[in-house]
Amino acid sequence: MVCLTGAGCSAESGIPTFRDAQAGYWSRFKPEDLASVDGFLHHPARVWQWYVDRLRMVQRCSPHEGHHRLVELSRRVPRFDLITQNVDDLHERAGHAAVLHLHGELARFRCLSCRMAHELRCGELDRDSPPLCQKCQGLIRPDVVWFGEFLDPVTWNQACQASTTCDVMLVVGTSGMVIPAADLPVLARQSRAKVIEVNPDETAISPVAQVVLRAPASEGLRQLLAVGDSAGLTASLD
Ligand code: OAD
Repeated sequence: MVCLTGAGCSAESGIPTFRDAQAGYWSRFKPEDLASVDGFLHHPARVWQWYVDRLRMVQRCSPHEGHHRLVELSRRVPRFDLITQNVDDLHERAGHAAVLHLHGELARFRCLSCRMAHELRCGELDRDSPPLCQKCQGLIRPDVVWFGEFLDPVTWNQACQASTTCDVMLVVGTSGMVIPAADLPVLARQSRAKVIEVNPDETAISPVAQVVLRAPASEGLRQLLAVGDSAGLTASLD
């Protein structure tokens, strides 16, 4: 089984989904002015503060029932690969040992210039502007994929490999608006996998899914496990 998650999978933990994340003070800025190299170079302090605010928000949140149900599900199948578009660490905090982060991770930092990983030092999150790289004095940035940037090729290849060899792909909480992530369920379906969507709303993924649980993550995953309990999970998916 492969599971692809999006921002909707973190929604019940209190993290706004991407398309409605621009609330409050940050609503005056366009995401591409905050999540892009140009935006960072023009306003490094503003972008740094936006990401620090998002990181602190994630640190205040906890995994919800849906995250824990996903861990339970992963222990019931012979092989389980988790691929996420989310940059939070809620899947890890719920108990997944390995998570493929297609769009990077909020809690990781690197140098904009030399790409060297940067371990945050004490007090650096309290700065108003990004720290400088200890190696080349370049600006330190969050290690997330910005608009116009490519995904990490190794992570992407692992995600494609998992999606083209799985029996079941579970898609939880993504609008399917962003490629190449949204191509993964299509790849799985073309590779004869069963595609299951858990989402309260119709999405671009819905037509690809043979099974749709039109519910929030917690409720949908609860239903899926209940079916599995009654008839043996993989058998029930046939
Ligand atoms: P979106 O905000 O585009 O979509 C969130 C999806 O979650 C929608 O389909 C909602 O209906 C659904 N949803 C809302 N509440 C839910 C709940 N409680 N349970 C389950 N689903 C729920 O977020 P993503 O699809 O993740 O890219 O967006 C993909 C990418 O677009 C993000 O990773 C980001 C953005 O550009 C980068 O940062 C590179």
